[in-house]
Amino acid sequence: MTSCFNGGAGWPEPVVRVQHVSDTCGDTIPERYVKPPSERPCLSPAAASSGGVGGGGGGGPNIPVVDLSMLDVDATSRAVAAACREWGFFQAVNHGVRPELLRSGRAAWRGFFRQPAVVRERYANSPATYEGYGSRLGTAKGGPLDWGDYYFLHLLPASLKSHEKWPSLPSSLRGTTEEYGEEVLQLCRRVMRLLSSGLGLEAGRLQAAFGGEGGEGACLRVNLYPRCPQPELTLGVAGHSDPGGMTMLLVDDHVKGLQVRSPDGQWIIVDPVPDAFIVNVGDQIQVLSNASYKSVEHRVTVSAAEDRLSMAFFYNPRSDLPIAPMPELVGPGRPALYPEMTFDEYRVFIRQRGLAGKAQLQSLQANQTAAAAAAAGSSSTCS
Ligand code: OGA
Ligand code: NI
Repeated sequence: MTSCFNGGAGWPEPVVRVQHVSDTCGDTIPERYVKPPSERPCLSPAAASSGGVGGGGGGGPNIPVVDLSMLDVDATSRAVAAACREWGFFQAVNHGVRPELLRSGRAAWRGFFRQPAVVRERYANSPATYEGYGSRLGTAKGGPLDWGDYYFLHLLPASLKSHEKWPSLPSSLRGTTEEYGEEVLQLCRRVMRLLSSGLGLEAGRLQAAFGGEGGEGACLRVNLYPRCPQPELTLGVAGHSDPGGMTMLLVDDHVKGLQVRSPDGQWIIVDPVPDAFIVNVGDQIQVLSNASYKSVEHRVTVSAAEDRLSMAFFYNPRSDLPIAPMPELVGPGRPALYPEMTFDEYRVFIRQRGLAGKAQLQSLQANQTAAAAAAAGSSSTCS
């Protein structure tokens, strides 16, 4: 069974693939994957097999759907901005990425996860860069684990992209991923313009803060959530917000799994529109927009009946640029809520500690508020 482990490569303990756990654990998942009761997803028995939530799975409020093929750019911008102010999420339909590419992308990556373990393990990742085949985020020994394996790779900047680090099998994977990345990048740039206009700014302004077209970063994380005998006890990804700029998520059309924290604090399950992208704001756009757009907590449930594949395309600012609330959005009565920080610096946080709900941005905001209070000469009232 050693082929299912990669002992070392900078991890504090041997890494076990969730695919392997799923195949061998029988009816009971190992303790490391069991979440504390307050974090468990409360699935009804019927929903557990389809990945849905119990109690009102349909009908309630849900993330907006926005048609990106509307000719009225102002109306599109308003719809995108309203969704990102309120929910931090929307489903984009008629987004312009060719449906064949969505299908071939998913098929290529399913093909990778179906390769024998020895083939997959050639690409085992390490916590230094996370590039490659991985099963955990964060390096705390003995820490909780999520029920999912992933593959993480860079698309931009070009200096970080290396096909050698992408799987060579199935043979279609590199070409398909390259094409997929190019089309999704164009879509991200378009949504950036809509988001920028939605703030009352010139359409290229947000993009400029990212380092301009060609200056941005982009990476892809393909997640595989294997079948799980006790989906009510675990999560495929625990609650987190995305650290980067914006995420374009492509999910399986027929297996639900993504839950989003609604504006009133409830977990709602996203019912995927076939071939849509689920678009969400990440922490960097929350910072740049001075919290006009929300980077909202979300998590992933798993299913007893089927495995699930998702492809998260992360669109990020150039990693060495200082990111802070845009000056146009700061003024009297509207203080900057976050200190300046590069995405490289921010990522160090995440890579050591793993994803932790909204904790990272909240701690930055608390520090900023304390610093502003100190600068204003007021003494702390929380003694
Ligand atoms: C992520 C993520 C959601 C999903 O990779 O950051 O939130 O449905 N994925 O896989
Ligand atoms: Ni996410």
